[in-house]
Amino acid sequence: MTKKIAVFNGPNLNLLGTREPDTYGTTSLEEINALVVERAKPLGFEIEFRQSNIEGELVDWVQSADKDCVGIILNAAAYTHTSIALHDAVAAIDTPVIEVHLSNVFAREEYRHHSYISDVAAGVICGFGATGYMLAVDAIASMLRGN
Ligand code: DQA
Repeated sequence: MTKKIAVFNGPNLNLLGTREPDTYGTTSLEEINALVVERAKPLGFEIEFRQSNIEGELVDWVQSADKDCVGIILNAAAYTHTSIALHDAVAAIDTPVIEVHLSNVFAREEYRHHSYISDVAAGVICGFGATGYMLAVDAIASMLRGN
């Protein structure tokens, strides 16, 4: 049976490709989706890829992914630094969540150094651009293998 990984993207990530390309690169979210699907397929994963600018929608998606996904890749974007609701949603579920950021948030403004997700995530990947999403797929595959 195919295992499902959910990839959830937060606010403004729909603008990737043209949004602050020096910080976030020129790869669009659609292109990232295609790269993730390509990486996931040979590992036996199907991908559910979504983006929302609405905090509550992301909370709903995290909750429901717990029912049918083996892992969640979450780039909560700016909500990373503000959302206790997303922290609580991630803490409430059993499915491992990999926090991803395109940019190295620790090399940026101080208000980006704190994440409400990291302490409840299985792991954090940041600073590798679009590649970070693929690394997160590999991380979930590795966790499921038990190594
Ligand atoms: C981001 C980093 C966040 O600080 C920022 O608000 C984003 C994108 C990243 O992927 O680097 O929107 O999550």
